[in-house]
Amino acid sequence: MPIAPQSDPSDTLMTRPDSEKAVGAMFDRIAKRYDLLNRLLSARQDVRWRHHLIRQVPYRPDGVYLDMATGTGDVVIQAAKEHPEYQTFVGADISENMMSYGQVKSQEAKKQGLIHSEIEFRPMSAERILFEDQSVDCASISFGLRNVVRKDLAIAEFARVIRPGGVFLILEFFTPTGGIFSRAFQFYFHAILPLIGRLLSEKEAYTYLPKSVASFYSPSELRQVLAKKNLKVEFEKSFLFGACRLVKARKTEFPV
Ligand SMILES: C[S@@+](CC[C@H](N)C(=O)[O-])C[C@H]1O[C@@H](n2cnc3c(N)ncnc32)[C@H](O)[C@@H]1O
Repeated sequence: MPIAPQSDPSDTLMTRPDSEKAVGAMFDRIAKRYDLLNRLLSARQDVRWRHHLIRQVPYRPDGVYLDMATGTGDVVIQAAKEHPEYQTFVGADISENMMSYGQVKSQEAKKQGLIHSEIEFRPMSAERILFEDQSVDCASISFGLRNVVRKDLAIAEFARVIRPGGVFLILEFFTPTGGIFSRAFQFYFHAILPLIGRLLSEKEAYTYLPKSVASFYSPSELRQVLAKKNLKVEFEKSFLFGACRLVKARKTEFPV
């Protein structure tokens, strides 16, 4: 069994630093409208970006798939649909409200015969992944790494749990570089998006979004951080002039 014993979720969240608790609480508050806002604010591009991520999932009979910061479960449900050969699917997050929507969606997909595996949703932080060393064949994190307080720690945790030869997939927003598009995007991200967010959901969350992108790694910084943990980037794809990127890294046995 690759998954370590379940700890008490309330204990897990209580022992986190305040800021991680605050991030989880914020996602708890916006969970209800999260999917709607995602589709609206990205003009449904988020669905397409997640499809690109799923295309990079390796074929692994009896494999273990971990989607960290799974939120409402879109990625792990899609992975279960398209990779029925995996044996274990886990969606993990610090926001139980977000995962409760994922749970409902996965049960619906199962009822419709779209997925045949049980997806397990587990309260867990990316900073302390409750999996044994080298037990995961494919780990993903979409629009989640940016929200993790101690990102270096999370990347070290991914490197610990992914098997040599296993795959790590990151889908994330970055600051687009250069040109008119970059300026237009910044205007949209900093002015329009928080406005729509405030009208339909919560101002704090949608003001925090552009700030978290501004303080995130650049693509080359991310490559370096991954390489330090034997995660070798072997594929990258950029969307919207670099505002969103898919990064695929492979766990190597020896230093990159
Ligand atoms: C923007 S949502 C992304 C959800 C989903 N992956 C998607 O593609 O829509 C970010 C998620 O990261 C979660 N999160 C933030 N910090 C986390 C951490 N340290 N460990 C696990 N999940 C975390 C939040 O609770 C939230 O559900």
